[in-house]
Amino acid sequence: NWTMESFIGKEIARIREICGPKGCVIGAVSGGVDSSVAAKLMHEAIGDRFHAIMVDNGVLRMDEAVQVHKMLSEDLGVNLTVVDASDLFLERLADVEDPEKKRKIIGNTFINVFEEEASKIDHATKNERGEAKGEIEWLLQGTLYPDVIESISFKGPSATIKTHHNVGGLLKDMKLKLIEPLRELFKDEVRALGRLLNIPAHLVNRHPFPGPGLAIRILGPVTREQVKILQHADHIYIEEIRNAGLYDKISQAFAVLLPVKAVGVQGDKRTYEQVIALRAVTSEDFMTADWFVFPPEVLRRISSRITNEVSGVNRVTYDISSKPPGTVEWL
Ligand code: XMP
Repeated sequence: NWTMESFIGKEIARIREICGPKGCVIGAVSGGVDSSVAAKLMHEAIGDRFHAIMVDNGVLRMDEAVQVHKMLSEDLGVNLTVVDASDLFLERLADVEDPEKKRKIIGNTFINVFEEEASKIDHATKNERGEAKGEIEWLLQGTLYPDVIESISFKGPSATIKTHHNVGGLLKDMKLKLIEPLRELFKDEVRALGRLLNIPAHLVNRHPFPGPGLAIRILGPVTREQVKILQHADHIYIEEIRNAGLYDKISQAFAVLLPVKAVGVQGDKRTYEQVIALRAVTSEDFMTADWFVFPPEVLRRISSRITNEVSGVNRVTYDISSKPPGTVEWL
């Protein structure tokens, strides 16, 4: 007789048993549902012997690093280190336009930063007062059941391409073993688990956000200025979607910064500024998707707020492409 409550109890017991009385675990968190639920579960099982690391790659949404810190560390008590590596990421991304190159740079830099932080934590736990308090033996992965199936049957490119899963160096150099507490669960079960673990509803129901972040939503070179413009426009867009009560009706919504300039008139001045494209889709599995039909007044409000409040933007367009032939992301 399987219930989520009994799953939690059994999984916590299993984690305690495999970690033993001293074993420590590290894991990356992103602010997404899976990594947050996995982190909270580890915290329930072994407390501060679970170390979460969040890498700020400079292409997160507005205030995201601060918000994830507040939620995981302050509200949920998870032992969390936030590493601000935005300078390094943005330096490596400078002048890169090719989408796959952006993905590779972000994936590889993520691994570099995560590995360095992991070995710092490992040394710290060993050296404290000269006692071997425990050391990192395990790496947490928020792998879900569909990922397990997919890696077994190896069907090729997946609906969500997970750059973050490539942490082979850690497994080899630090001799870490994998711990995967969500490996038997589907996405909706992870959400149910999150609710039982007191993870806030707005996080549990969050739209997916890609590992390469805003870098694949800035068409053209990624600079701090471009990131700021897109963060601001995206923030307004999502805020108005929530205000209109539409967030849970949409599978994924986000803004895209186009690499073109257009002429406009603001006040009595001619402007020559950038263009924001809005994307909102409904989808079962993200293999196919339909564009979302907004009430016109919601689009009107969003457009007027973005052009008034985001400096550097004078035009807003709405993407009416389905997948296929479009993809969900523009890059
Ligand atoms: P596409 O654009 O392929 O997107 O139709 C389908 C889903 O996958 C997400 N996506 C990614 N997620 N790393 C990720 O973690 C990526 O490189 C990546 N590319 C696309 C996208 O946001 C959508 O949910």
